[in-house]
Amino acid sequence: MNKLTVAVIGCGRFAQFFVPLFKAHPFVEKVYVCDLIREKAEEFRDRFEVEIIDTYEDALASSEINCIANFTQRHLHGDIVVRALKAGKHLYSAVPMATSVEECQEIVELVKKTGKIYMMGETCYYYPCAMFCREAHKQGKFGTFAHGDSQYFHDIDAIGYGKTPNEAGMPPLFYPTHSTGMILSATGAYAKKVVCLGYKDTVNDGRFGKGTNEWDNEFSNQYVLMELSNGGIARVTEARRIGYKSPSSYISGFYGVDGSYEFSNAQHILIQRTSKPGEPEKMNLTDVSDYVNPKTMTENKDDPEFKIKAANHKWQWSSFAPIQQKEVDRLPKEFEGLPNGHMGSHQFLIDDFCKAVYNNEQPILNAWTSARYTIPGLVAIESAKQGGKPMDVPDCGEPPTNKVK
Ligand SMILES: NC(=O)c1ccc[n+]([C@@H]2O[C@H](COP(=O)([O-])OP(=O)(O)OC[C@H]3O[C@@H](n4cnc5c(N)ncnc54)[C@H](O)[C@@H]3O)[C@@H](O)[C@H]2O)c1
Repeated sequence: MNKLTVAVIGCGRFAQFFVPLFKAHPFVEKVYVCDLIREKAEEFRDRFEVEIIDTYEDALASSEINCIANFTQRHLHGDIVVRALKAGKHLYSAVPMATSVEECQEIVELVKKTGKIYMMGETCYYYPCAMFCREAHKQGKFGTFAHGDSQYFHDIDAIGYGKTPNEAGMPPLFYPTHSTGMILSATGAYAKKVVCLGYKDTVNDGRFGKGTNEWDNEFSNQYVLMELSNGGIARVTEARRIGYKSPSSYISGFYGVDGSYEFSNAQHILIQRTSKPGEPEKMNLTDVSDYVNPKTMTENKDDPEFKIKAANHKWQWSSFAPIQQKEVDRLPKEFEGLPNGHMGSHQFLIDDFCKAVYNNEQPILNAWTSARYTIPGLVAIESAKQGGKPMDVPDCGEPPTNKVK
């Protein structure tokens, strides 16, 4: 049993939701904060009553700090994570895992070698739609998986992070794990091959285009078809110019040979074949919205403006959905009343990480799984550059089931 002393690296918009959770978790001894911009670290210090550690290098060198929580900008993660593992730290990282295939592979190898915990905080893993598809698929409600559609729609003008023109213009698939994580976790499979097309941006506002960002990226939206290890097909979309707001991350359809799940606005529908082979075809339809939607959304479903409010992202931040109840039940009581977000996922993720380190066990979103969510997107960027060339996806294999060192 190892209590955690955590250094939160990056005191930006996202980290603010997590410092109070780390601080409150019963397995955490102490929390430090760190930012390249001193005032940001000071603001966190004063707001959350934690200490500052001056630099990332100081955190790596500290014998007291055994965990790094990485909340730096998304294109910096590979280097931050590799250095932390090499310094013998456990690592919680905001998504994505890294922005090159080689870095993802190196992280997996370092986790194997060092026995340290790596966890990627993929919020969408705990989105109720992903949980519903995982559960229903495991229960055999869809039959053999055929195909599924998943997306992360976040218009660059509405997005709260990555606002500098350079960051805004990065290939959308540098950030693939919201969409891949939902659909892949539901299928239980991984991507073997990808084909990707890109939508060349038309707005001309200095973000996307050759010479406007460090990746020379022209595409504001990218569309990937993935051939999966179970023989099924998944389509994932990462869109940054999109006239669609809510929910930004969702599975729109999940289809097996015997049933399907479909979603629109606030309605979740399960359809199942009830006829036996040879009988006239008969389908059963169940509206599972009250099970999958956050409770506050369901409480407001008679509001005359319900649909328009749902389309504007109301009720989708902190309130839990009934399908999440078993996860809520395992949270420490110290989390009650604390901030949450992204469909209630923040608290589940921090609890997963703290328990994994404390109990010396692989978390569900371990290095191997994170690689399977990240690498297909990175390979797909190359496919899009080559006009949709089919490309094989390297796989880092299955996570070990045994306890780590
Ligand atoms: N749903 C989600 O999973 C979700 C949502 C939002 C953001 N994110 C992720 O969270 C991360 C942070 O996003 P954000 O919006 O808070 O970014 P941000 O730009 O507001 O904050 C990042 C901070 O990291 C600091 N930083 C960078 N390198 C550092 C270093 N070496 N040492 C110390 N500080 C350093 C920067 O100065 C900055 O203050 C991103 O990777 C993003 O992808 C995930």
